[in-house]
Amino acid sequence: MCGIVGYIGEKNCVPIIINGLKRLEYRGYDSAGIALIFDHHSEVIKNKGKVSLLEDKIDSLDLSANLGIGHTRWATHGVPNEINAHPHFNTSKNLYVIHNGIIENYQTLRTGLQKLGYEFITQTDSEVLPHLIDSFLVKGHSLFKSVQLALSEVDGTYGIAVIYEKEPDKIIAARKGSPLVLGIGENENFVASDVSAIISHTKQIVYLEDGEIIQVFKNHFNAKTNLDKEVKKEIHEISMTLDEIDKGGFPHFMLKEIMEQPESVRNSMRGRILFDEGTAKLGGLENVADRLAASKRITISACGTSWHAGLVGKYMLEQFTRIPTEVEYASEFRYRNPIIEKDDAIFFISQSGETADTLAALKEAKLRGALVLGICNVVGSSIARESNAGVYTHAGPEIGVASTKAFSSQLVVLALITLLIARKKTMSLVDGKSIALELSHIPEKISEILKLNDEIEKIAEIFKDSKNFLYLGRGYNFPVALEGALKLKEISYIHAEGYPAAEMKHGPIALIDENMPVVFIAPKDSTYDKIISNIQEIKARRGRIIAIASKNDNEIDKLVDYTIKIPDTIRILMPLLTVIPLQLLAYHIAVKKGLNVDQPRNLAKSVTVE
Ligand code: AGP
Repeated sequence: MCGIVGYIGEKNCVPIIINGLKRLEYRGYDSAGIALIFDHHSEVIKNKGKVSLLEDKIDSLDLSANLGIGHTRWATHGVPNEINAHPHFNTSKNLYVIHNGIIENYQTLRTGLQKLGYEFITQTDSEVLPHLIDSFLVKGHSLFKSVQLALSEVDGTYGIAVIYEKEPDKIIAARKGSPLVLGIGENENFVASDVSAIISHTKQIVYLEDGEIIQVFKNHFNAKTNLDKEVKKEIHEISMTLDEIDKGGFPHFMLKEIMEQPESVRNSMRGRILFDEGTAKLGGLENVADRLAASKRITISACGTSWHAGLVGKYMLEQFTRIPTEVEYASEFRYRNPIIEKDDAIFFISQSGETADTLAALKEAKLRGALVLGICNVVGSSIARESNAGVYTHAGPEIGVASTKAFSSQLVVLALITLLIARKKTMSLVDGKSIALELSHIPEKISEILKLNDEIEKIAEIFKDSKNFLYLGRGYNFPVALEGALKLKEISYIHAEGYPAAEMKHGPIALIDENMPVVFIAPKDSTYDKIISNIQEIKARRGRIIAIASKNDNEIDKLVDYTIKIPDTIRILMPLLTVIPLQLLAYHIAVKKGLNVDQPRNLAKSVTVE
């Protein structure tokens, strides 16, 4: 989604902003722009397409300034083109605004401003901001006050940064529902929508909260609420390193992140397994663990891949804690007046911790008095901060738009939560210990599967031109089928569906012919015989089958076209293994089709609009 970078200090901000925007490219965008304030004038340069094109344009102009803001835009209102790209400006072209989020009442504001004589040149919702701020500046208000007054008229979400030729000593930044941080440096300060944009310059971070406006000077800053109350902000020292957000020799972030999984899942469980007691120690849930175990019902709400992790979580929690568990798309949960009882616990799962639908659902649940618990990867993210309690997944920064290591880490955390609750209820010490022990062996088993990379690449070569794919699994592996299909469609643009294997005969079987590859997730578990029957049904209709099977299963090779053999584990942990070949299959198909796997078309890493 859109990205924001701003700089004020003593250095030339052009390379700082451009490099910051490049660090945000992974979020997905379609155009970029920069505004610079010089001694007595200002300049705005924008471009459709990649940040590198904007960089070429700026290089040819040889500009240097100590104050500037830059933006990557992911179109919502108006096509991706140069005019609609941010920064937007007022009629005098001396005030510049970059905006993430959506202004819901922009039509009303636009009509009102047009009546005052303001002319609009873009199709965007964001363009109302410079004109609205300008309408207060002309009445004699300061820039800070004008931004504050303008925002009081805005409905919707925003993360904004504003600069003004007549007040060249500051950036004004504000947030409501769209992330924004301030980076503190020596004689310089930064504003960004994501710490990765400024991590090479500073690790001292201030997180803005919703409804806060901040004035950023080169040596200090001060913050107020929308209602003009002073706010004391805490400076956090963050531990993320630049290495963590580089490709580390891999051709794509996605492959790097797939390959990192032995380590990332190890990090997710590090120090959290109590082997002797057969349970988990999760500091973030310590104060609520008893209440959780006493819950009458658990809800898990999330979007996309995190929602798939939630589905696996349902299987885990219901099997071992016997607490009824519902899984709901965050976007549906919020708008359907959900039934929330006082003993309910609601988990919100999000890699980024900034997904607008998930955050909005969390706020709704909190308002209704539920115990809201976050499972997030990004430390300090909005969902993490808004939750009553929670657990970090500790997968490390995930840059590839297609979520891979975040998913496996979410599964680890859900297994740990299951252990924690189940052991407080009816799970025996023996069972707890055996799950804990098996969990600790998952990293080496993932390493074993990753060695099949070349084999999976060959299968990808065979199927890369297929137009459709079906993914089938049962029980714990049904959500994995959904995840495998999502991975393939988002990066290869091949239509793919995930189904519970037995549902196939209730409709999708009509699609089966020799052109339809079907991926079966068929490890040897209690539903193995049933899945073999489903395989036979596909074979009888000349479908082509790729099976993810147990390594000791020699029978399945006779029934299917291709097998990918993986180590065994217990059912609750099986998705941690079965998903790995599906990630690699999707990756190789997309690469072979020559597609941009890290930044697939139309997608954004963190979806900060509803
Ligand atoms: C995953 O590959 C997707 N790009 C997407 O479905 C993602 O999982 C979803 O947008 C939720 O993101 P979150 O985990 O950051 O909330």
